[in-house]
Amino acid sequence: MKDTYILGIESSCDETSISIVKNGIEEIATVTNTQIDIHKEYGGVVPEIASRCHVKNITILIEECLEKANMTMEDIDAVAVTYGPGLVGSLLVGIEAAKTLAYVNNKPLVPVNHMSGHIYANNIGKEMRFPLIALVVSGGHTELIYMEDHYKYKRLGATLDDAVGECYDKVARIVNVPYPGGPTIDKWAMEGSHSYDLPLPLNDSTYNFSFSGLKSAVINLVHNEEQRGNEIRKKDLACSFQEVVVDVLVKKTFKALKEYNVNNLILAGGVAANLGLRKKLTEESEKEDINLHIPDLKYCTDNATMIAASGYYAYINGDRADLTLNANSSLDL
Ligand code: KG4
Ligand code: ZN
Repeated sequence: MKDTYILGIESSCDETSISIVKNGIEEIATVTNTQIDIHKEYGGVVPEIASRCHVKNITILIEECLEKANMTMEDIDAVAVTYGPGLVGSLLVGIEAAKTLAYVNNKPLVPVNHMSGHIYANNIGKEMRFPLIALVVSGGHTELIYMEDHYKYKRLGATLDDAVGECYDKVARIVNVPYPGGPTIDKWAMEGSHSYDLPLPLNDSTYNFSFSGLKSAVINLVHNEEQRGNEIRKKDLACSFQEVVVDVLVKKTFKALKEYNVNNLILAGGVAANLGLRKKLTEESEKEDINLHIPDLKYCTDNATMIAASGYYAYINGDRADLTLNANSSLDL
């Protein structure tokens, strides 16, 4: 069978990324520009600045990616692009670039959901096995998904308020760690001990999550300690916080595996880089004989390789968009 090459475009938040993937599994070339250092100054992503950076970089990155792959648009079968969820202005930059590229070169345009991309990060280098449960944890999402086969999604539950990555970043801010603080909290958690008492968030029988109460509990704890003139043991606080977060994520994930009688588990999204979460999921999976897959770190944070991988399955499914394709900031799976 003829090989299929998908050129993927990702620009939903603060990374501009272009990638070429063969048959949904083999990464040929990827180039990514991250704006983290620019947004750091403001304590979070500034949408207007993000869009401007995407505009400045996207054309150059497309050229660089083709060059790196030693390919031309002649060799590409389709252009896949993230059209949501994400920041509207940022998404539109990628969408307009994809439309132009597809139109000028007479290639099909394939719309891809960003969360589907995060899931398909698990398909890079090795095909996913079905049925599976996906735990998707990022700066904007926290979801448990059951997948019977490619592109067959059933959402079991999601966060009712803050996403887990967002909660990490907010907790980091309380202890003066610059954006994005998730990785620092994770590092500290590994060095501290669990000595602060924090509530287990939404420890109920559903597959939903809630992290805003936990965030408030951390804020109150820090204020109370400050008022008493006590110094915050930041590493211990990070460790106590991470323990309850990881505990509830792992508990609900394994409940879903049991209820749906599934033994394949994948982790997805930026928070999949979290060492505490990776460790606990690995330990539990070994205990329960679950086949766990976690993407390489470089595929956990936003990248176009995952969009091109997901785009391949959308392409063979026959999913197509025309030049009216618009951004959808709150797109569901
Ligand atoms: O998936 P992603 O790159 O962007 C979104 O689509 O949201 O995720 C970024 C999020 C940020 O909130 C960041 O703090 C968090 O992932 N993150 C982590 C870690 N590495 C990244 N959170 C906890 N521990 C980490 N090691
Ligand atoms: Zn993401």
